[in-house]
Amino acid sequence: MSILTLKPLNDHHDLLIAPVGATLSLQGTIAIPGDKSISHRALMLGAIAQGETRVKGLLLGEDPRSTAACFRAMGVGISELNSDRVIITGCGLGNLQEPADILDAGNSGTTIRLMLGLLASHPNSFFTVTGDNSLRSRPMSRVIKPLHSMGAQIQGRKNHTLAPLAIQGRQLQPIHYHSPIASAQVKSCILLAGLMTEGKTTVTEPILSRDHSERMLKAFGAEIEIDQETHSVTVTGHPTLIGQEVIVPGDISSAAFWLVAGSIVPDSEILITNVGINPTRTGILEVLEDMGANITLENQRIATGEPVADIRVKHSPLKATTIAGEIIPRLIDEIPILAVAAVFAEGTTIIKDAEELRVKESDRLAVMATQLNKMGAKVVELPDGLEITGGTGLKGGEVDSDTDHRIAMSLAIAALNAEQSTLIHRAEAASVSYPGFFTSLESLLRI
Ligand code: S3P
Repeated sequence: MSILTLKPLNDHHDLLIAPVGATLSLQGTIAIPGDKSISHRALMLGAIAQGETRVKGLLLGEDPRSTAACFRAMGVGISELNSDRVIITGCGLGNLQEPADILDAGNSGTTIRLMLGLLASHPNSFFTVTGDNSLRSRPMSRVIKPLHSMGAQIQGRKNHTLAPLAIQGRQLQPIHYHSPIASAQVKSCILLAGLMTEGKTTVTEPILSRDHSERMLKAFGAEIEIDQETHSVTVTGHPTLIGQEVIVPGDISSAAFWLVAGSIVPDSEILITNVGINPTRTGILEVLEDMGANITLENQRIATGEPVADIRVKHSPLKATTIAGEIIPRLIDEIPILAVAAVFAEGTTIIKDAEELRVKESDRLAVMATQLNKMGAKVVELPDGLEITGGTGLKGGEVDSDTDHRIAMSLAIAALNAEQSTLIHRAEAASVSYPGFFTSLESLLRI
């Protein structure tokens, strides 16, 4: 009998993980879904390029489905997202159609923030954009403010800071924007808006954030200049963007759950194939290595401009660490699962400079502290991080994902090592970035 039971309850799925009395390990080879950030960008650049873009390995999760639905509503041909090979028939830069209805970005911050750059700079069209409960509470001023300085006309709730948003597209002016935060969504939004301006648009960040937009814009034919010293990217307006073949590597943010699971569950060994190891995303590998994890990269290669490897993880005792400063943007989405690693590491782990986690799909600092403590962990919430006293084990209990995909999966991995059973409410949130996560977990389990 499996130790995992999914229980449909109203519209939600609760997951019961009952490892009680079982000697379990995780063994096997696993292919993970496509990178979420790269999937959004492939859909968007394919939409505004001329001709056909063929994407292999697209993430078939809820978030890219939201992006695809928005662009279909603006006249872009996008084949059904039912196989990981997707064909996009682009309409060409500046040729999106005015949608007849509200665009719904669902749960996806990347969809709404990147798309805003394209909509605000699209002359003579009117757009309205909304999202789910979580997205409508997330700050949009970080992109609306610089777009306003470019001349954009965007209105929204709470003094133009929250969705739903109304956008009257118009001709924008180029800008040199010094972003106060290291955010790839902010950077990408402004670069996409810059595509439709006369001249050069530059974004300077305090710390380099993930650079998938820069890489893919270049591959589609845009003129991109990068100043590595100042963390600045410049795009020149009105490029000719031509449809491409895009191979999306597996998402290291999804691999992260197996990297931690393989490290903390005794006798485990997992080979995760085809993982994107773009250096702006590999903070988790450095931190886990520092904690004593047994991780090796195999078969390193390049796939359409992105570095890729197979990653092998074997169980290993972990020790506490400090995660702070420059590395934070390179592992921002992995902090919930790193908190789980810290619970099973000897000593006190400190996570700092991570206040951005408070404005993700949930307040991930508050939610992880509350939920892990319900399971018997010793987690103290800090204004900008967490203090986790590890090595004392977990009891299990009743927890809730707060509808946040990364929280749902992190709690499931924590539950594998708990003494008693754990009931995770609203576990179905995992499908936002990792459809099939629980089936994969089941396939790796050896009891
Ligand atoms: C993303 C950027 C990050 C990340 C998010 C995806 C992207 O957000 O947390 O999951 O694809 O650009 P921020 O830009 O808010 O840091």
